[in-house]
Amino acid sequence: MVVRNISNSMILGITLKGIRHPLLSVGTLMVFAVVYQYLGNIVVSGAVASGGLVCISYANAYYGLKYRLFNSKSSPDGSHKMYAHYNSGQRGRRYWVAEHDGVIIGGVGIQKQQKSTAGKSGERRTTVAELKRMAVEPEYRRMGVAKALLDTAIEFAKQQGYDVIILDTSEIQQEAMRFYLKCGFEEIGVTRCDTVFPLFSYNLHNFRLRLNKKAQVQVQLFLSTVER
Ligand SMILES: CC(C)(COP(=O)(O)OP(=O)(O)OC[C@H]1O[C@@H](n2cnc3c(N)ncnc32)[C@H](O)[C@@H]1OP(=O)(O)O)[C@@H](O)C(=O)NCCC(=O)NCCS
Repeated sequence: MVVRNISNSMILGITLKGIRHPLLSVGTLMVFAVVYQYLGNIVVSGAVASGGLVCISYANAYYGLKYRLFNSKSSPDGSHKMYAHYNSGQRGRRYWVAEHDGVIIGGVGIQKQQKSTAGKSGERRTTVAELKRMAVEPEYRRMGVAKALLDTAIEFAKQQGYDVIILDTSEIQQEAMRFYLKCGFEEIGVTRCDTVFPLFSYNLHNFRLRLNKKAQVQVQLFLSTVER
């Protein structure tokens, strides 16, 4: 559910981004010109060129999401496997699902930060958790499911001694950005990701939630040291 959900919510946006890409627009015009030269029919040539554009753009989005961003290693398919992956006994790592009538309708995970952002956001002296794979089934959105999952994850993170929760969300996931801002996260930066989609790079928005005062003091101390 979770992997499918997040992929689905991104595939349209990524496909549209591809359609607007200048390189593909030029390619489409060239295809149109060649087909028109052979067929002499403006409608058919336009249909062939724009059909090709949509197919290439969709293939780019599908490949990036399925084989790179949400591949079976980073996101074992299906919520139950994801649950097992995150709840494998490693300290500071957990995955929760929300259920309705025995059906999984949402999920979220917490793990210790995998890559260091030291120096980037002033968190090198804190214990940083990453929030992963937040998703709610479309028909259950705007009912507080994600907020309930997030509250559970925050409570767990505090118990585990984390000072900060960070997460990345893409430029395509506008509803997720609004959700995190509403829930007290602050945007701390934007990073460019060029390893997922063959045709183009995209922006990842970096968010942070400080969990206690101690972390805030440490961050401020670190920042003031840098300024001097
Ligand atoms: C982002 C997502 C998890 C939110 O789930 P949700 O269960 O609908 O969120 P909640 O109902 O708990 O929302 C809590 C608050 O966040 C804000 N919010 C949530 N979705 C929003 C949206 N689409 N637009 C504006 N604000 C939104 C609202 O303030 C909302 O409170 P309200 O409904 O009382 O106004 C869900 O839209 C989703 O699964 N999206 C696709 C997957 C995805 O992008 N995941 C993020 C990966 S980083």
